[in-house]
Amino acid sequence: MGLLRVFGVFIVVLAMPVFAFAAGAHDGLNCVGCHGIHTAKAELIFAVDPNKKATNPRTKQAFSGTTALCLGCHETIEKGGMGIAPVSATHSHPFNVVPNAKVANVPDMLLREGKLECVGCHDPHPSNPNHKYLRVDTARGAKMGDFCGMCHSSKADPSAVKSMKIFNSMDERKSSASSAPASMSAAPGKK
Ligand code: HEC
Ligand code: HEC
Ligand code: HEC
Ligand code: HEC
Repeated sequence: MGLLRVFGVFIVVLAMPVFAFAAGAHDGLNCVGCHGIHTAKAELIFAVDPNKKATNPRTKQAFSGTTALCLGCHETIEKGGMGIAPVSATHSHPFNVVPNAKVANVPDMLLREGKLECVGCHDPHPSNPNHKYLRVDTARGAKMGDFCGMCHSSKADPSAVKSMKIFNSMDERKSSASSAPASMSAAPGKK
């Protein structure tokens, strides 16, 4: 039993790409892999061309907004991505859609121009400690129902929904260098 477990872990480690040993899968992108500081190709000074090939099954049109940016890497090469951990643009939970309120009640801060995008479910910034960059802690996937309950609360455990904490990196007023130790923020030569 013990031996089997050690062997199992060994296989998992072998299957991981080298950069997965960094703390998080996006850490290796080092910000500039996604944001081209002087070489932007899209909104948000994005470094990657938006995916123009994959089509949204709901609208039969190319994807828009940040979803097209994620799919610029996360689709197969044939479907306009880079083949990096490809997610199927067609056989997936809906994204790049205006939610029908009867089906999903999405917190406002997670909508972008009224739509659910990839970033409604994932916060892709390296600061996010959650499994798969999900917005909610799922105990590494063991409590996925807690996450689904963020938008489908009538279907999930009500106690989990009540105590839910949503991760959000998009408000710098909460943390940032202004709250760093004085030694870091003081300008050199000044008191
Ligand atoms: C995997 C791609 C990816 C990486 C890596 C990444 N970002 Fe982002 N960034 C995004 C996306 C997508 C958004 C829009 C998020 C949203 O709408 O919730 C964004 C938004 C931002 C914004 C806010 C722009 C605005 O209009 O409010 C800033 C600032 C930013 N990122 C800085 C950084 C920094 C600094 C790093 C590295 C520490 C980083 N990003 C790494 C994809 C990335
Ligand atoms: C520049 C290319 C690039 C872009 C753009 C990008 N990613 Fe990634 N993403 C990566 C790489 C590289 C990995 C690691 C893949 C692996 O380990 O096989 C990754 C992994 C992930 C993972 C899995 C994390 C894990 O712990 O296993 C998620 C979730 C993810 N990305 C979501 C997103 C979302 C959402 C967006 C859009 C906001 C996005 N990514 C945009 C390159 C990108
Ligand atoms: C409704 C919520 C939701 C939306 C929308 C969503 N995801 Fe995910 N995503 C998840 C969940 C949940 C997982 C983890 C699944 C698991 O572990 O079984 C995941 C996993 C992933 C992974 C990791 C796959 C792997 O092999 O480990 C990537 C990459 C990813 N998503 C990218 C995206 C991108 C890109 C988009 C938009 C095009 C997107 N996601 C939209 C919920 C979502
Ligand atoms: C951030 C909000 C959000 C989260 C989290 C979320 N969903 Fe959804 N879900 C939506 C939206 C928006 C729709 C589309 C509603 C519509 O039809 O307009 C949807 C639709 C669905 C549908 C109907 C699909 C169809 O084709 O009609 C199912 C099933 C579903 N979600 C299951 C899940 C499961 C399971 C999870 C957790 C793994 C989850 N959702 C997490 C927002 C979310």
